[in-house]
Amino acid sequence: MASHTVTLIPGDGIGSETSAAMQRVVAASGVDITWEVAPAGAACLEEYGAVLPDSTVEAVRRNKVAIKGPITTPVGTGFRSVNVALRKALGLYVCLRPVWSIPGAGGRYADVDLVIVRENSEDLYAGIEFEEGSDDTRELIDFVEARGAGSIRPDSGISIKPISVTATRNIVEYAFEYALAHGRRKVTAVHKANIMKHSDGLFLREAREVAKRYEGRVAFDDRIVDAFCMNMVMDPAQFDVVVFPNLYGDIASDLAAGLVGGLGIAPGANIGRDYAVFEAVHGSAPDIAGKNLANPTAEILSAAMMLDHLREREAAALIRQAVSAVYAQGTCLTGDIRRATGSDVPAATCTAFTDALVAELERLRAERE
Ligand code: NAI
Repeated sequence: MASHTVTLIPGDGIGSETSAAMQRVVAASGVDITWEVAPAGAACLEEYGAVLPDSTVEAVRRNKVAIKGPITTPVGTGFRSVNVALRKALGLYVCLRPVWSIPGAGGRYADVDLVIVRENSEDLYAGIEFEEGSDDTRELIDFVEARGAGSIRPDSGISIKPISVTATRNIVEYAFEYALAHGRRKVTAVHKANIMKHSDGLFLREAREVAKRYEGRVAFDDRIVDAFCMNMVMDPAQFDVVVFPNLYGDIASDLAAGLVGGLGIAPGANIGRDYAVFEAVHGSAPDIAGKNLANPTAEILSAAMMLDHLREREAAALIRQAVSAVYAQGTCLTGDIRRATGSDVPAATCTAFTDALVAELERLRAERE
């Protein structure tokens, strides 16, 4: 059996709990993984002088594959997102988030099976921002007004939304190649091209260009983002692979997670040409951190995606099968899923849920031997 070394960034908030659960489940799947633990987040500031230490980025470069717990980004402070910095440092231009109905997990539909492909490097996430009242902001406002491009209230803060031909082609190509490789039949591009003609308009134009190359092999359509949201809530089964600029993809990921049982079960990956960092869609959930209440399924299913990436397909499939079995049994559910399903069984702790998964994995493996 092949052995792998993977960088583990446990993160903060519920990250230490969900990461520990994930490690136990991966071990129980029978793969041989050596974890190289690397820190990131506010707790690193004192020791390393940075929220994303260089040694952590280096560790991912060395191992090429990492799995990461969530990291808190305080709202409205000078603290930049570690997640955004990591994606930038490693060229992780794709955010991949498969969403499917797991029977027993409290989803509103039984037939969701779609994949979100979110552009990960630009749009309003580019971090190009001008603070309200600063000299630079005043200069930018003057520039815009002098060119007759519009008027901006003097007490505005400004965030820039760049959408490039290069990044759009890259992400749309990835969506089509993913569709081909996974036997999926359609790619839908989501945008607001009717209003933002030079950013979303460009995204749609380039998506259409790329789509021509796949004609006859993968179907293509597009949806305005507001209509997409309504379509998702009413009939999510119509979507297959869906490709988004960064911000809409972020919002749609939570919307899609909500349709199948919530953030507790939504996995994901950030993928580049050389490196891949797997992580759940959810954040650090400060409201439940440290209480053994977190649902580790999202990080565990992210680990299953990582195992597929490492060509440990049997172990990945086994983990997904065990997750499905535990949800189908319905006797060991964390609080989030208990609320989503309306079940009256007592809520399981993160540890108890992990115990159930590990037991199921051991049973499945024994059955195969
Ligand atoms: P959140 O995803 O942390 O929490 C939203 C709600 O979902 C909360 O009620 C939480 O208890 C619940 N929840 C989330 N994950 C859960 C799980 N595994 N099990 C059970 N319940 C779960 O989103 P929020 O509150 O907006 O963000 C908190 C912090 O996390 C912020 O600082 C944010 O910037 C950061 N964040 C980090 C991400 C990352 O590291 N990739 C992604 C999203 C947010």
